[in-house]
Amino acid sequence: MSAQFMFAKRTNWNLAPNQLSEALAAHRTAGKPLLDLTVSNPTECGFEYDRSAILNALSNPAALSYEPNPRGLESARRAVAGYYAERKNEVSIEDIFLTTSTSEAYSYVFRTLCDPGDELLIPSPSYPLFDFLADIQDVKLVRYPLLYDRGWQIDFHALEQAITPRTRGVIVVHPNNPTGHFAKQAEIARLNSICSAREMAIIADEVFLDFPIEENRPASFAANRGAPTFTLSGLSKISGLPQMKAAWLIVGGPQQWKGEAVARLEVIADTYLSVNVPVQLAIPRFLEQRHDFQKQVISRVRRNLAELDRQLAEQKACARRAVEGGWCVVLRVPATRSDEDLAIELLTTRGVSVHPGHFYQFPAEGYLVVSLIISQQTFAEGTSRLLSIF
Ligand SMILES: Cc1ncc(COP(=O)(O)O)c(C=O)c1O
Repeated sequence: MSAQFMFAKRTNWNLAPNQLSEALAAHRTAGKPLLDLTVSNPTECGFEYDRSAILNALSNPAALSYEPNPRGLESARRAVAGYYAERKNEVSIEDIFLTTSTSEAYSYVFRTLCDPGDELLIPSPSYPLFDFLADIQDVKLVRYPLLYDRGWQIDFHALEQAITPRTRGVIVVHPNNPTGHFAKQAEIARLNSICSAREMAIIADEVFLDFPIEENRPASFAANRGAPTFTLSGLSKISGLPQMKAAWLIVGGPQQWKGEAVARLEVIADTYLSVNVPVQLAIPRFLEQRHDFQKQVISRVRRNLAELDRQLAEQKACARRAVEGGWCVVLRVPATRSDEDLAIELLTTRGVSVHPGHFYQFPAEGYLVVSLIISQQTFAEGTSRLLSIF
């Protein structure tokens, strides 16, 4: 029997490796040296962690008993509310749900908002995982463009044109991956008026909120009251601990809507009860770790960006896009071939790995994305080899 008839259509993904991933696998198998400018796993970037504090936090004797709570342990939610209180945002612990990842939080939200075939608007360019998250939940993604004119901004005309009777919400990544721009106050106000007028929700992904390049502190959506709002974040970026699988979602917005949303989410969360107790107990300590971690990351991101600017100033072929926050930067390169071919050539002739723009759904060729959290030495050497190809 053909596999096509055995499985759900939503799993009919094209799982064949693309040329770039094949080239990368061949490069690695041959044992050739690689300057990997795509690494975004903080545990692989040489940051210093307080190892004993992290490991001790996981051996709390309270982990020997189990009192299931669909929202998660109160002590952990208090710590999350404390994180927002430090930003001067008041969040009730009753509006917080712990999840194992932001991805899981997305799935809870999609399940709460959308019937099969309902639509969500997502920014373009953006983070590639959305396509799979949406497929798995039978949600249709519709892209709204981000425009670049010295900085990135939402194309509100296109966003409003993309709304149909089936649109349930707008995803905002704040700051966006890979463009690194924050939603501005005027944009938030406009999103609030669009969403509240059409019974749509804002789904705000703030995993990189704490990593602005400048000294400013962009506001969180967690205290947004102007429209139904789900705010998602977690420790994989905030504290650089993706392996701990600890994240959350916060429900905010008009009081009556919020009560309904929370009651429905409670059923979903109660069905899975997915976050394990040792990690929940450790969340307050893991959150404390963020201060040291974030200092290291922000300092590295700034230095790598300064090095990039120094190298870009010495040539004319390439430029970079303005970046306000997050862990990567977008390079504008001559579009003399496809970004994928360029990435393969960089790999095979320079031993450098980069993400081609299409990985993030850039609307045209001529974009590469590189990580800013890798070691300064790898970054400097990798970008120098990258620029040498033009
Ligand atoms: C914008 C964005 N949201 C969410 C995630 C995933 O976070 P988590 O590890 O909590 O699922 C990532 C990971 O790179 C991301 O870039």
